[in-house]
Amino acid sequence: MLKEEELEKLKNDCNDCHRCSLGATRNNIVFSDGNPNAKILLIGEAPGADEDATGIPFIGRAGKLLTKLIEDCGMTRKEDFYICNTVKCRPPENRVPTDEEKELCKNFLLEQIKTVQPKVIVLCGATSAKSFLGNKIKISQIRGNWYKVFDNIDATVIFHPSYLLRNHSEAEGSPRWLTKQDLYKIKDFVS
Ligand code: URA
Repeated sequence: MLKEEELEKLKNDCNDCHRCSLGATRNNIVFSDGNPNAKILLIGEAPGADEDATGIPFIGRAGKLLTKLIEDCGMTRKEDFYICNTVKCRPPENRVPTDEEKELCKNFLLEQIKTVQPKVIVLCGATSAKSFLGNKIKISQIRGNWYKVFDNIDATVIFHPSYLLRNHSEAEGSPRWLTKQDLYKIKDFVS
């Protein structure tokens, strides 16, 4: 089966999913955006209101900032990224998804990774990083680090754009500046 067909089938399965309570309150599943043939697979936390309304990940304020940072570093989210989240449905009030919700949704994420076969996984924010690196991590201590989470796929960690929305400075050493350095390294790694 073609990659696109496999992902479409998975998306249809996800549409039918009511394994956790988020299935009862969602308007849309938020499965993915970008290029299934991309070398970079980015995993965010969970859909927010804009994502739930449209079915597209990272489309609200945080998403617009993420898109801008990606473009500032000479990449596009349409071509260079496959974008998804740890859970595919919006948690009420934008709360952090629980470990149980993440676990019940993880198979969809693992199948996405297996099908896309990226060269690098970008764990965007603490919730995403914790899913693969354990709950003890501190995002400010591990962002910019590189890990082997699967045999042939490297992973790295960046700040979540919601955090960057609260930190406007672009000065050297600031979270936005560090994120751009991280994105440049990711770009170099895949080119
Ligand atoms: N924040 C996320 O982590 N994911 C989205 O899709 C939108 C906002």
